[in-house]
Amino acid sequence: MRVVVTGAAGFVGGHVVDALSAAGHEVLAVDAPERSLAPEVARRRWADLAARAGVAAAEVDLAVDDLDAVAAADVVVHLAGRPGVRDSWGAERAIRRDNVRATERLLAACMRRPATLRPKVVVASSSSVYGSAGRRPNREGDPLNPASPYAASKAEVERLAETAAGDGLRTVLLRYFSVYGPRQRPDMAFHRFVETALDGRPLPVFGDGRSSRSFTHVRDVVAATLVAAAEDLPPGIAVNVGHHEPVAVRDAIAMLTGILGVRAQIRREAPVAGDAARTWADTGRARELLGWTATTGLAEGLADQIAWHRAVREEVRVG
Ligand SMILES: NC(=O)c1ccc[n+]([C@@H]2O[C@H](COP(=O)([O-])OP(=O)(O)OC[C@H]3O[C@@H](n4cnc5c(N)ncnc54)[C@H](O)[C@@H]3O)[C@@H](O)[C@H]2O)c1
Repeated sequence: MRVVVTGAAGFVGGHVVDALSAAGHEVLAVDAPERSLAPEVARRRWADLAARAGVAAAEVDLAVDDLDAVAAADVVVHLAGRPGVRDSWGAERAIRRDNVRATERLLAACMRRPATLRPKVVVASSSSVYGSAGRRPNREGDPLNPASPYAASKAEVERLAETAAGDGLRTVLLRYFSVYGPRQRPDMAFHRFVETALDGRPLPVFGDGRSSRSFTHVRDVVAATLVAAAEDLPPGIAVNVGHHEPVAVRDAIAMLTGILGVRAQIRREAPVAGDAARTWADTGRARELLGWTATTGLAEGLADQIAWHRAVREEVRVG
C-alpha cells in the first residue's frame, strides 16, 4: 500500500510512520515542522525521518502548498494539525489554518483525483468534541459539545470529512483520547510531570487532580489507526480510539511517582477553560468495526514512557 502520513514529524505521526514502514508499506511522510507547537522537537524528528532509508519525506504546508502529490496515495493518514485544548485559547487563527483549512484543502485535493484513484482518508479527531463525559462512556452518536477553539476546530474537521464522504470520498474519523507514551508532546501532562519530577520539582497540575481521562498508549493508538487504514469501513464514520477505563489524574500521578521512586509534590495551577472534567471512551464500535480494544494498562504504559524520558536524558548527558 502507498500511504501518506501527514503530521509525520509529530508524536502520533512518527509512531504511525514507524509501524507502516515496519509492515512493509511504501510511506510518504509529510509535515511542516515550523507549524508544530514545538518546532525544535519537530525539526529534529523531521531530520531523523528524512535521513531514514525506506521513508520518503516531503515538507509540505497543507494550508498553503500544492497538495496533488499528497493526494496521490492509496491511503492518507491525516494527523497534521495544531493539537491541544490549553494552547488553543488565543490561537484561533492558527487553529483554523492548520486544522480546518489544512483539512479542507487536503480533502479537496483527494476529491480532484479520478474517482477510482481517490485515496481513503483516515482523519485524526479528538475526544474533546464530546465536551465532558457524564455517568457513562461517550458513544460516537452522542451530541458534540466542543468547549474550546481546538475542540470546535475538530468538530468542523469532522463535518468536512462527513461532507466529503457524502461526495464519494472514503473518510474515517478517529477520535483519539489523551495519547501518551514515548516521544509524547512536551506540552502534554505526563511529559511535563515526568520531566519536572526527574528535575526534583513539584508537578504542575491544572485543577484539583480529580479530573479523569481515558489515557491511551500510543502503541494502541497506532494499532487502531493501521486497522482503520486497511479495513473497508462505512464512509464518514467516527470511531472512538480510547482506553475503556478512565483514570483520575491524581491516581496517574501516584502511579507515575511510584514508578519513578519519588515523593509526589504537586503545584496546583488554575484549571484550563474548556478542559473536560472527564473523558471516557465507549469502545463498542472500535471493537465491532476494527476488532480493537486498548491492551496497554496505565502502569505498564507509564513505565514505557518514563524509560524513554530517562534514555533521552542519558543521551544528552553522555552526548
Ligand atoms: N496526542 C493526543 O493526545 C491527541 C488526542 C486527540 C487528538 N489528537 C490529534 O492527533 C493528531 C496528532 O497529534 P500529535 O499529538 O501527534 O500532535 P503533534 O503536534 O505532535 O503533531 C502534529 C504535526 O502536524 C504538523 N503540522 C501542523 N500544521 C501543519 C500544516 N499546516 N501542514 C503540515 N504539517 C502541519 C506539525 O508540524 C506537527 O509535527 C492531531 O491532529 C491532534 O489534534 C491528538
